[in-house]
Amino acid sequence: MSTQAPHLTATQERSLRDIFPGDSLLLTPEQTLVFATDAGRRMGTPLAVVRPTTEAQVVELLRLAQTERLPVYARGRASNQVGACVPDRPGIVVSLLHMNRILDIADDDFVAEVEPGVVTSDLQRAVEARGLFYPPDPASIEISTIGGNVATCAGGMRALKYGVTREYVLGLTAVLPGGKVLRTGGRCHKNVVGLDLTRLFVGSEGTLGIVTRITLKLLPLPQATATLLAGFDSMEAAMHGVRRIFRAGILPVALEFLSPEVLDCVARRQTPPWPDSVRGALLIRLDGSRESLPLEVRRMHDALHTAGDAADGTPGNEPPVWSAHGVGHDEEEPLWAMRRGISPSSYLVRPNKIGEDIAVPRGRLLDALTGIRAIAQAHDLPILTYGHVGDGNIHVNIMYDGADPSETTRADAATVEVMRLVRSMDGTLSGEHGVGMAKKEFLHLQLSPLETELMRQVKHAFDPLGIMNPDKAY
Ligand code: LAC
Ligand code: ZN
Repeated sequence: MSTQAPHLTATQERSLRDIFPGDSLLLTPEQTLVFATDAGRRMGTPLAVVRPTTEAQVVELLRLAQTERLPVYARGRASNQVGACVPDRPGIVVSLLHMNRILDIADDDFVAEVEPGVVTSDLQRAVEARGLFYPPDPASIEISTIGGNVATCAGGMRALKYGVTREYVLGLTAVLPGGKVLRTGGRCHKNVVGLDLTRLFVGSEGTLGIVTRITLKLLPLPQATATLLAGFDSMEAAMHGVRRIFRAGILPVALEFLSPEVLDCVARRQTPPWPDSVRGALLIRLDGSRESLPLEVRRMHDALHTAGDAADGTPGNEPPVWSAHGVGHDEEEPLWAMRRGISPSSYLVRPNKIGEDIAVPRGRLLDALTGIRAIAQAHDLPILTYGHVGDGNIHVNIMYDGADPSETTRADAATVEVMRLVRSMDGTLSGEHGVGMAKKEFLHLQLSPLETELMRQVKHAFDPLGIMNPDKAY
């Protein structure tokens, strides 16, 4: 058996050099290893990293990769949590960060054309300066790229009112294995001609081709926004609050939950504004016109303080025990920065994390949270629950110390139990992070053999030799 590490042949290396001059080709481990991992902290082995600036280079690359049967791993900023872009087999990593131009913002079409390496918040600032709005706002918004958001169908806080990335991708250009260039969709906000190949790419985790250009739908920028942080004396009271909001006929922009464990975690990083009596919180955003927003804020306040009706199953009056609010970007942003910081802050609790992002039918939220709490107690592990409860989507961070074999075993067991619990409620293993490497072992709990087979056939149609991010996602 050869003990030599996998490597490119001299011919393969020469071919890559022809396509990628200078430092657009990286070969030494010192250069390539930063491209080997992602926010899920898994690690792979890049044989080489290439950094295209043009579609033509991507075409040449995928021609070569197909001929040589080299695995290809496209990536943006690798902020995904599930190993979706980790080169777990030796292969070519394609960093799209040098394809980062905003090509067009079309005010009258309400469309933006971008390259995949544009950072999400950069696009948002650019369109907002023109009174336009690109709503998807994953917590990684300041880091992640539009290409990565498309590959994972990124969600975020505003998904409740405005939907996830899928809703905003009108068209794209993708280079397929072998070098064919596929252009789908266009600038029309509605389009039902043929199967929806555009959206097939959204959430495909780099398994079908490399997206080099994206056409995004924009909306008019809401005139005014307000944020409310409502603190309750228990997780149950906070969840009853969620129910009362919807029962009052309100659709907030965002409706996020913070469990007591998460509030304690945040308090490790910053002095919290809430008193100790707060043991569960809802972070809520509303938007509208300058005239309508105060009325919406009032409605929200009334909904949270209105007694429920036990007869129709609406829980009783458990109003917030504390609240804070902000109006406009400068007042609201500290609250949202706190929210976006939860995922990285969870490492203050334990050095290792299994980060799940399950979703359940909205009516089962409290059951799911209660069940997860019982799993945490049974395994004596901190499990942080928080997130997009308006969508029924909960982040479940199972925290453990990887140096402690008992904790590691218990964390793995707790993960299996969470997955089974979710499926027993007709929930999904992933509401927004995707499958990548992390959730593959659980797919059989959700996908039928027929679904899996059809997904394989779709992949085969795009990628017959299986070189695009092989073995990931489905
Ligand atoms: C969040 C990421 C983890 O919502 O999805 O914080
Ligand atoms: Zn999230």
